[in-house]
Amino acid sequence: MQDIINKIDSALNLDELEQIRLELFGKKGSITAEFNRLKDVEPENKKAYAQSLNIKRDTLTAKLNEKKLSLESEYIKSKMKSEAIDISLFNEPLSTGALHPVMETMDRIIEYFVAQNFSIETGPLIEDDFHNFEALNLPKYHPARDMQDTFYLKDFRLLRTHTSPVQVRTMLNQKPPIRMIAPGSVFRRDLDLTHTPMFHQVEGLVVEDGTKVSFANLKYILEDFLRYMFGDVKVRFRPSFFPFTEPSTEVDISCIFCSGCGCRVCKQTGWLEVLGSGVVDPNVFEAVGYKNVSGYAFGLGVERFAMLLHRIPDLRSLFEGDIRLLEQFK
Ligand code: DAH
Repeated sequence: MQDIINKIDSALNLDELEQIRLELFGKKGSITAEFNRLKDVEPENKKAYAQSLNIKRDTLTAKLNEKKLSLESEYIKSKMKSEAIDISLFNEPLSTGALHPVMETMDRIIEYFVAQNFSIETGPLIEDDFHNFEALNLPKYHPARDMQDTFYLKDFRLLRTHTSPVQVRTMLNQKPPIRMIAPGSVFRRDLDLTHTPMFHQVEGLVVEDGTKVSFANLKYILEDFLRYMFGDVKVRFRPSFFPFTEPSTEVDISCIFCSGCGCRVCKQTGWLEVLGSGVVDPNVFEAVGYKNVSGYAFGLGVERFAMLLHRIPDLRSLFEGDIRLLEQFK
């Protein structure tokens, strides 16, 4: 009996233990065989034989169960150990990417206007003549429609040359008051130090009923915005022309590289041109069916802002997909 108990004790796993149980209590097991022999025992010895056999069975069954429990708990423990994750372990620092400087600049611009209660509107990259030109008071003979500037597609469609068509779409879909920006990519046939065929703009439009919106509102928000982006700069509104605004202005900031003293970047003028804007031309309102409203609009090139903020000399380097460029902006 002791040798059986030793055997049970030395079982290494649940399979082995089950094997031992079958050897004892299975159909051909040794204990089963001993029970079968009971009928051949002489009547006067039967009781004693049965009693000792019962004790043997109970002892071995208890031993098997005890061993089973301990093997099971060992199995669970080893499984927990092998599958455990030590969250306190130090690892190599994760290598993270960096936001592209254009997107980072875009995010900052959007952040400002969202805080000023502007909604974000979007429009298609493939536009038609009406939304991209006609409704914006850009008549058929306007030079901006020239093949040199615009990518024309089949069926009078084109790649939008600015984000201004989103103004038109928003006004056609909503009633005043409107207070929106439209960030997105635009396309022009252009390639040099400061121009790429695809670049990004943020368009802005504010419209209210009656005569509530004036040039003063435009001046306030753009000055505030430009100081948010560039810090303590002077802001200058220079008379200009855009078909969709009247009056129109181009907005300059005092040069952030020479503080207005004159340098190579500002071409010795002390000023940097950063955006276009104006009071919305009545012809634009007429094209979208708005009556008795007033508004202002503005548009800016995100790459221009990124170049100034990060002193990037060649715009084309932003779109060459060279990872070393991004690594400088981590
Ligand atoms: N759409 C103009 C461009 O692409 C930028 C612009 C200028 C937008 C003046 C405006 C604006 O809304 O009022 O150059």
